[in-house]
Amino acid sequence: MTERLTGRVALISGAASGMGASHARAFIAEGACVMIGDIADTAGQQLAAELGDRAAYIHLDVTSSRDWDAAVAETIRCFGKLDVLVNNAGILDGGPIGEYTEKQWQNVLSINLTGPFLGLTAARDALVAAAPAAVVNISSAAGIQGVPGVHAYTASKFGVRGLTKSAALELAPHGVRVNSVHPGGILTPMLGASSDATLDRGANPLARLGLPEEVTPLVVFLASTESSYCNGAEYVVDGGMTAGRA
Ligand SMILES: NC(=O)c1ccc[n+]([C@@H]2O[C@H](COP(=O)([O-])OP(=O)(O)OC[C@H]3O[C@@H](n4cnc5c(N)ncnc54)[C@H](O)[C@@H]3O)[C@@H](O)[C@H]2O)c1
Repeated sequence: MTERLTGRVALISGAASGMGASHARAFIAEGACVMIGDIADTAGQQLAAELGDRAAYIHLDVTSSRDWDAAVAETIRCFGKLDVLVNNAGILDGGPIGEYTEKQWQNVLSINLTGPFLGLTAARDALVAAAPAAVVNISSAAGIQGVPGVHAYTASKFGVRGLTKSAALELAPHGVRVNSVHPGGILTPMLGASSDATLDRGANPLARLGLPEEVTPLVVFLASTESSYCNGAEYVVDGGMTAGRA
């Protein structure tokens, strides 16, 4: 069987846990080299060690342009090029309007939206040099529809969707495709270890949360040349949550 990412070199932010770790595992299984970037150093180093010679870890705080520059340079030093960027790192935080502070707002925006912008900025020349290249920005179902109480998160994920489209238009002539992925309700540490995987059908037509491994194949597809005509688009993986009222 042909590996779908043979010869590809990916930098995945926030890949020490949750969906990012699932993406890293699948990318390695599909033949890619993967630089895991995260602030969770112990978990990131353990995952890189588990994944073997085609994986490495670097401390990457996505709010730091200096960290991004170092992560891109280290990816090229270790693996020779960078042709896939997965902007996956993110945090979930919320609170009612009137109580939610500007500081909380800025923190979510800086990680979830400025982070992907800084990643694109740092990786742009390397991606162009390695074209055909792909960027996969992890947004959310909250980048498709509003969610009460998580205003900064929703604004950041709508922002990621917009950034995806403007970058896709700008970078297409240079051989770099940019798409966004919109998961909804995935069982990861973000939702808390004690999350109940079952939901009522009013909340989700499939009546359950999804698993990271149910999102990863979409990210593999968008990172691979199989998706060569997919560009500037949003790909929803949410069990039908945003399809309408159940
Ligand atoms: N779990 C869900 O239901 C869900 C739904 C829609 C979208 N998402 C998005 O998917 C992405 C992955 O989330 P997850 O559910 O796997 O969560 P997670 O908490 O398991 O993973 C997030 C990772 O990002 C890292 N991180 C946090 N701040 C960082 C920073 N400043 N710099 C670098 N890394 C940082 C964390 O250390 C962690 O490893 C996020 O962008 C999230 O918003 C999640």
